[in-house]
Amino acid sequence: MKPTHFEILPLQSDEDLVQVRQKLRARMVELGFTLVEQTKMVTAASELGRNALLYGGGGTARLESVEDSNRLGLRMTIEDQGAGIADIEQAMTDGYTSGSGLGLGLGGSKRLVKDFELWSEPGLGTRVTIALWK
Ligand SMILES: Nc1ncnc2c1ncn2[C@@H]1O[C@H](COP(=O)(O)OP(=O)(O)OP(=O)(O)O)[C@@H](O)[C@H]1O
Ligand SMILES: [Mg+2]
Repeated sequence: MKPTHFEILPLQSDEDLVQVRQKLRARMVELGFTLVEQTKMVTAASELGRNALLYGGGGTARLESVEDSNRLGLRMTIEDQGAGIADIEQAMTDGYTSGSGLGLGLGGSKRLVKDFELWSEPGLGTRVTIALWK
């Protein structure tokens, strides 16, 4: 799988998150993803971006077009250098929140995009990669 285009967007404020959503949607329109696919990916990115802001002290969103031998995809990596997640299984469980959320962001994102990878290390931060293929 090779990246064909990428950009790194700041994620330090709600305004940044709006930008990330808009850029992501624009790239998906360009690549011909359906409205349903756009909404799934943008919703997932939005939840992960909100987590990075709320729990990770902000970070970045990397937006990449990728292709393998027979398909095109779009990948987004959201990362922060915050406190990290000590118990990933617990964090992924629907209904678990350490704050005042519903505890549905991580599990919901995973269900929306399927191609979902979470890395986190206490003291180092959190990185989540999501992708959607055509
Ligand atoms: N980037 C992150 N850094 C540190 N902890 C995180 C991060 N993202 C998620 N977590 C932890 O995982 C928990 C579950 O996250 P999830 O997004 O599923 O729910 P929530 O943010 O608490 O609520 P919701 O997303 O439904 O508003 C969070 O409460 C938090 O403790
Ligand atoms: Mg959340």
